[in-house]
Amino acid sequence: MEKIELYETIFKRKSIRNYDLTPLNQNTLNEISSHIQSLTPLYDDIEVDLKIISTEDVKRRFMKKAPHYIAAFSEEKEGYLTNIGFMLQQMDLFLSANGIGTCWQGIPKPTNEILESSRQEFIILIAFGRPAEPLYRSSTLEFKRKSLQEISDVEGAEEIMEAARFAPSAGNYQPWFFTGNENMIHAYSIKPSIIRGVLAGRFIPIDIGIAFYHLKLAAEHFGRKTEVLMDNDIVRDYSKKGYNYIASLKLE
Ligand SMILES: Cc1cc2nc3c(=O)[nH]c(=O)nc-3n(C[C@H](O)[C@H](O)[C@H](O)COP(=O)(O)O)c2cc1C
Repeated sequence: MEKIELYETIFKRKSIRNYDLTPLNQNTLNEISSHIQSLTPLYDDIEVDLKIISTEDVKRRFMKKAPHYIAAFSEEKEGYLTNIGFMLQQMDLFLSANGIGTCWQGIPKPTNEILESSRQEFIILIAFGRPAEPLYRSSTLEFKRKSLQEISDVEGAEEIMEAARFAPSAGNYQPWFFTGNENMIHAYSIKPSIIRGVLAGRFIPIDIGIAFYHLKLAAEHFGRKTEVLMDNDIVRDYSKKGYNYIASLKLE
């Protein structure tokens, strides 16, 4: 498996729900395991535990079978769900770039035995395996996504913002909004309706972490150095407009 430039994968990846159930060979699984160990966290003071598990370790709850899953567990600390979104999206792109299908799976859960095997709280699964359907979209027109104007009033930096726009999210809800300019981009989550909040509120910070990773990857692809910051003045400003502040990306 290659450590390829992941940026291009943003514009062709898709969720894979039909898998060849033959397990991947041990070499490939070992490479995936070692890549998991090299992921960059959004917040490096949060302990995470990422395990590769199999079909029989998962209560699928009507979802189709996949031969393998990454089960994400985390310490519960401020920003922990966003951190998991940010880290696992690196796997989603890495696997897709290397010919392996993936799908974030918020509905299925691991068996009790797996849940008890970690000291951390279970967060989410990502299914993966050899795809039994086309791995990529043939054109960006196949993506169903909000327009750039709906998700951003960032001045300039259109190419970088496009990468965030194409990010996957639970139920394709795309609960993000970005402000700022080409030197500093602030990320927010939209406040969900009460029903949406109850049913899928937990996924929103994960989704933002995913989009934030796309943003950082694109900025670095275009040669910018990035730094993740928290800006307390901004928190006050935009929360009045119905957004929750998550984090900012400084671009040099
Ligand atoms: C946090 C999260 C949870 C998700 N949970 C599920 C799920 O339980 N079942 C499923 O089929 N797809 C799930 N998805 C996949 C989304 O439905 C999918 O990413 C979205 O519709 C956009 O489609 P795309 O990934 O093909 O671009 C999830 C995605 C995210 C980010």
